[in-house]
Amino acid sequence: MIRVAILISGSGSNMLRLVEDMTGDHPARPVLVASNEPAAGGLAKAAALGIATLAVDHRDFPRDRPGFEAALLRPLLDTRPDIICLAGFMRILTPGFVDRFAGRMLNIHPSLLPKYPGLDTHARAIAAGDTEAGATVHLVTSELDSGPILGQARVPVLKDDTPQSLAARVLTQEHRLYPAVLRRFSAGDKTPVMLGSEGLVRGS
Ligand code: GAR
Repeated sequence: MIRVAILISGSGSNMLRLVEDMTGDHPARPVLVASNEPAAGGLAKAAALGIATLAVDHRDFPRDRPGFEAALLRPLLDTRPDIICLAGFMRILTPGFVDRFAGRMLNIHPSLLPKYPGLDTHARAIAAGDTEAGATVHLVTSELDSGPILGQARVPVLKDDTPQSLAARVLTQEHRLYPAVLRRFSAGDKTPVMLGSEGLVRGS
């Protein structure tokens, strides 16, 4: 069995989709859901599903990113994860932490990378007049939001979109994309998963 640890900071909707998919013939199972935010809604949801949880509050380590990461790393390693999934984890990780999981740490980012690394992706796509937006799952490297792409899902940008309405449309597709990528990646296949906007337009 392939062991997956999931790192979150918020509501954990992507985490839930990953967990829901890791049943039956899926090669992987969740072993830990961890967060830098003790109040993250996703922690309670994971605990309710019987998954081990961990909170390491980054505020306890002011101006000490390595200290925060060391506190996170010890219990994380205790769960012997094979794959780490960042799912709405909003802390930048140092190269020391990233290198430790090189080639086996995944992240989901709400843009069609290489466009719009960083924050405010939806507002930036709308401001640029893009007709298409989406999400990307990629391998994490020490350069922010720029590792090898494992999958993308595309959605149309509509005329009256706000960053909120676009984010909601993209998030729906994130929930299809991330489980599909993790399933394939857990089976040793790094071929990118490409989901078009057609399915969304047809409402599937
Ligand atoms: C998702 O839209 C994810 O792509 C984004 O945070 C949201 C988390 O939602 N991640 C980033 O912006 C990472 N830079 P969730 O907690 O409901 O899964």
